[in-house]
Amino acid sequence: MHINIDHIRIVNIDNIIEETPSIRTLIFRDKLSSNAHPGQFLMVWIPRVEELPLSVMISDKKMHAAITIRKGGFGSTALFNKKVGEIIGIRGPYGNHFTIIKNMKKALLIGGGTGLVPLMRLATKMNEFGINSTFVMGARSKTEVFFEKQANRFLKNTKHKVIVTTDDGSYGFKGSATDTLATIIKEEKFDRVYTCGPELMMKKVFALASEYSVSVEASLERYMKCGIGICGSCCVGEQLVCKEGTVFNEKDLRLMTEFGRIYRDKTGRKSHIVDYN
Ligand SMILES: Cc1cc2nc3c(=O)[nH]c(=O)nc-3n(C[C@H](O)[C@H](O)[C@H](O)COP(=O)(O)OP(=O)(O)OC[C@H]3O[C@@H](n4cnc5c(N)ncnc54)[C@H](O)[C@@H]3O)c2cc1C
Ligand code: FES
Repeated sequence: MHINIDHIRIVNIDNIIEETPSIRTLIFRDKLSSNAHPGQFLMVWIPRVEELPLSVMISDKKMHAAITIRKGGFGSTALFNKKVGEIIGIRGPYGNHFTIIKNMKKALLIGGGTGLVPLMRLATKMNEFGINSTFVMGARSKTEVFFEKQANRFLKNTKHKVIVTTDDGSYGFKGSATDTLATIIKEEKFDRVYTCGPELMMKKVFALASEYSVSVEASLERYMKCGIGICGSCCVGEQLVCKEGTVFNEKDLRLMTEFGRIYRDKTGRKSHIVDYN
């Protein structure tokens, strides 16, 4: 049976994993999402609340997929508070995806916060293709570290390293994920760096990778309403993140004057991306 991905599919939440006190993974059965490419996202409808774009997370269960939500404002908190057996609506998966270079030997994955979600799906691909990977995961502190065990498990058939960094040094290496990148990119040769997370982090990743002439793919987040290239709310300059992205390569990023600088709110008003650290 052909399913139109633009029609909302109602799914039951089958299981919930508590990743940290403010982050949960919700698992549901959906064949289309279970086959999503790394970097693709779903538009998730929280009944009577709102619709949010969320990356597709992997589930161990066949024909199942997941979303990982950080409790924040109105919509994300309503989703975070959902219970097993309750329903949500999904459209998608949408957007392009991370790509693997032919004969690729070594990859570096670097992310922070819920930006780790699309990188987890990518990690399973690295495992499938036997590509050795270093996965750098940034968090503010020990209580905000998640996915470390899963990343080691997803990469188990390859030579891999999972490096956790915390800003306050309460777990793993003290410092930011990009501090670690600055050290390892000097010592090891990677075919490509993949990144998703806070945009200022990705901007630093892009700058470091460019300095060492390593190719980059970054998955960007923007305010999204339609998710399918109609409303224009997700634009970064001329590019629509929901349709032409969310993944952009170094050539795209170089031309994007708003990358790491400008964000549009739900009214379309531009504001500067601020570094709170
Ligand atoms: C492609 C993509 C993938 C994402 N993947 C994840 C994920 O895996 N896990 C996760 O926790 N979050 C993810 N997000 C962020 C998520 O969509 C929400 O922005 C976030 O959960 C905040 O929602 P809120 O209800 O708390 O927002 P509010 O508290 O109402 O607003 C807080 C911030 O969220 C932003 N926001 C609110 N609604 C949207 C929207 N429709 N589109 C984009 N930004 C919005 C606002 O601009 C604001 O900066 C993703 C965003 C995008 C664009
Ligand atoms: S969210 Fe509407 S065009 Fe991208």
